[in-house]
Amino acid sequence: MTAVGVQPSAVGRGDVVLRADGLSKRFGGLLAVQNVSFSQYDGEILAVIGPNGAGKTTLLNLLSGVYRPSSGRLHLLGRDVTQEPMEARCHAGLGRAFQIVRPFPEMTVHENVTVGALFGTRGTTLGQARERAYDLLERTGLAAHADKEAHELTLLQDKRLEVARALATQPRVLLLDEVMAGLRPGEAQEAVGLVRSVRDSGVSVLFIEHIMPVVRDLADRVVVMDQGQVLAEGTYHEVTANPQVVAAYLGTEEGLHA
Ligand SMILES: Nc1ncnc2c1ncn2[C@@H]1O[C@H](COP(=O)(O)OP(=O)(O)OP(=O)(O)O)[C@@H](O)[C@H]1O
Ligand SMILES: [Mg+2]
Repeated sequence: MTAVGVQPSAVGRGDVVLRADGLSKRFGGLLAVQNVSFSQYDGEILAVIGPNGAGKTTLLNLLSGVYRPSSGRLHLLGRDVTQEPMEARCHAGLGRAFQIVRPFPEMTVHENVTVGALFGTRGTTLGQARERAYDLLERTGLAAHADKEAHELTLLQDKRLEVARALATQPRVLLLDEVMAGLRPGEAQEAVGLVRSVRDSGVSVLFIEHIMPVVRDLADRVVVMDQGQVLAEGTYHEVTANPQVVAAYLGTEEGLHA
């Protein structure tokens, strides 16, 4: 399956913001990510799905610079960042929210986002960082909780904070790892709206997600991973109709349409 099927909502279709060429990551005897190649276009919302252990988080760790690949290359906004550390990729425009949310629990919500704004971009003053943090709390629906300590937040609010912290670094590409996990359906719909608004503000979004209705509603294009490899790529309807994809999900706990 080829990279066709981008919805009309994708803007700047021609420009590739993220390009992975043959990325692999070996942990001892295990090839957790194996020869993964894909491109993400400007303004696109790209989903990465696959059964548990497929290598999705490891791929995200390769993209964000947590791990260096065993082989392969990564281009961000046309620049080869394969050997660059996480911080340099962040400054180059890559933002990341983690599967396991880890804000600074004793700091306020506003302070948490301010830290992201300060450290994510060069030459930002404390005043600018604080102001940007307030804007982001408005955008992510957390303004009323700005002065709470982070440990007081609900799970939905935690996820919003994680997105706000990632956005504070002013990314061109935002990586999200299961930010909807554990949310009730109504909350997940709210989070879908938030991700759309992020994209509409000019940020390309790559997200990992197990909740298939969220993938259907949000993704312009879907990359399916299984056992470290890309199994299929296309629109939600294309990949979910693919017999290989259905087979990869058979007997898994989450199932394809759970
Ligand atoms: N740091 C590590 N050291 C050794 N093996 C690892 C490491 N991280 C991941 N793995 C292994 O690599 C494989 C892929 O794991 P990964 O976390 O990337 O999967 P995933 O697709 O994100 O799964 P899930 O849907 O459960 O989050 C698994 O077999 C996992 O046990
Ligand atoms: Mg994972």
